[in-house]
Order: sequence, then structure tokens, then C-alpha cells
Amino acid sequence: MRQKIIIDTDPGQDDAVAILLALASPELEVLGITAVAGNVPLHLTEKNARVICELAGRRDMAVFAGCDRPMNRPLVTAEHVHGKTGLDGPVLPDPTMALQDRHAVDFIIETLRSHPAGSVTLCPLGPLTNIATALLRAPDIAARVQRIVLMGGAYFEVGNITPAAEFNIHVDPHAADIVFKSGISLVVMPLDVTHKALVTAERNAAFRAIGSPAAIAVAQMTDFFERFDKAKYGSAGAPLHDPCVTAFLLAPDLFTGRHINVEIETTSDLTMGMTVADWWGVTDRAPNALFMGDLDAPGFFTLLTERLARL
Ligand code: RIB
Ligand code: CA
Repeated sequence: MRQKIIIDTDPGQDDAVAILLALASPELEVLGITAVAGNVPLHLTEKNARVICELAGRRDMAVFAGCDRPMNRPLVTAEHVHGKTGLDGPVLPDPTMALQDRHAVDFIIETLRSHPAGSVTLCPLGPLTNIATALLRAPDIAARVQRIVLMGGAYFEVGNITPAAEFNIHVDPHAADIVFKSGISLVVMPLDVTHKALVTAERNAAFRAIGSPAAIAVAQMTDFFERFDKAKYGSAGAPLHDPCVTAFLLAPDLFTGRHINVEIETTSDLTMGMTVADWWGVTDRAPNALFMGDLDAPGFFTLLTERLARL
């Protein structure tokens, strides 16, 4: 039985790799791709989502534009990481496939209502604005979501955009608070694990050796966006944050974590968007998330490289 998923995304080179991995994997049925403002403004994230679908040969994919700013805060973007276009690195043609007319939030609500309860997984790869807006507008869908597998947050790794907060959660902490309090089954890929999925020179060479336009584009994307993490952390390569979400759907045993309580800071300016993860169980707060801590990186890259070669 194919897993039915909706990918909610703010491409973003790492989002692009996550989407390509999903489109290359027959185990997954991507019902639609919903764009949200995040790494770059919405008019670019929706365009980039279509660019990536065309790179994968999927002009048939339904791509929707969603919220163009966080629920209660001004938009913060990350061109310093992803470049002005959000997909800097490869030179890719402008998309010619259509953007869907429906708003992404309406698509999420209607899809969850029209599919059997518990049959659709949501895969947010950016700020959680679209997801939280759908939950507020249609509270009935919370019981219909099979689970949410998201990239966001950090505990041991602390913040990548502020000293305390990871980008996706920091951009829209109120949306994250709604999602983390929704009662929906959550699987969280924080920086603690995504910083272990590094595109080393050897792994990048393996992408390039595939030789296809999609694989070469991935090599060029990761060559570009590694700069931020190399400069800040001395990383051995670009961290493939968002592809951890797709890889979990395909091979959950690549990951290890704990089912713990995670709550979101939404008031302090100092720690806004921090994921307060009770990793050591020092509170009596109820566990609400499978929070990942480790990854079989060689296994992850073997899976990713094999699947990219199928595009
Ligand atoms: O902090 C990393 C996350 O922020 C990733 O999803 C990346 O694409 C950006 O959205
Ligand atoms: Ca992202």
C-alpha cells in the first residue's frame, strides 16, 4: 500500500532534494505539494516547487501556493543560506507547468476530508503556517491526519537562526505551537539529526556520477548551500535537513529518537521559536513527539543516491 502524503515546503535546496527523493520513490503517493513562505518569499517557493517537479519529469504534479507570511509575525527569510532565488546552484529553466488555483490550505483541508481518516501523512519541510492555518480553519481534520513527519526544531544542536531556535520553528512559532499541541502523531527531524546528514565531497561526487540532469542539479544545489554551514559550524558538507523527512517514510530504521514532550517558546524574544524538548524526562509533561536524535548516515546516502538515479 503506497503511503499517501502531502509535502508542504519552502524550497530551498534541501527541500528540493526531499521532493526529488519522494517523487523517485514508488512507495509514496504525493497527493500534492503545497508551498509556504520561508526560505524565500511565497512567489519564489511556489515557483521553485514547480521547477523541482519539472526537473523530476512530473509536470502532472499539483502544486499549490499557501500562506505568504507567518500567522502573527513578519516573515523572516534565509537568502543568506539558499541564495536570492532560494534554489541557487544549478541554472534551471523557469517552470511552464501551471500553479493550481486553489489555496494550499483549502487543498490540505479538502484532501484530508475526502480521503479515509488516518490515510494521509503531512510532510512539512518549512514554517508550519499552512498546516496550523488548516487546523484552525477546520479543526475536524486533526483526527483525520495519519501523522505529521516534519523537519524543524533542535535540542542538543540549539539554534541555527538564533542562539535558541531553528529556522522553520522560529519563522512561525505560533503555528508550530498549534501543531505541537494538536494531538496529532508527530515525528520530528530536528537539527540534532539533520546535522548528521552531511553531503561530503565523496557523497556529492556520487550524486554527480549518476550523470542525470536531476542528480547533477542536486550536486550543484548542495555545493552551493553548504557554504553557510561550513562557515558557521565547520561542517563537512551541506546538511540535508528536509530529505530526512522523506527518508524516514521510506526507511524509518535509519533513525533513532525518543518519544518525548516538546513545547514551543512563543513569548520570549530571547528564545522565540525554541523547541523545549524534554529529552531527559525531567517534567511530567505528556510526550507528544517522536523526536529524532541519530541517523545511519551511510544508509541514508545509499538510499538517497540509489533513488536519485531513478529520476
Ligand atoms: O533549519 C533548516 C530548515 O530551514 C530547512 O527546512 C531549510 O529548508 C529551511 O527551511
Ligand atoms: Ca525547508
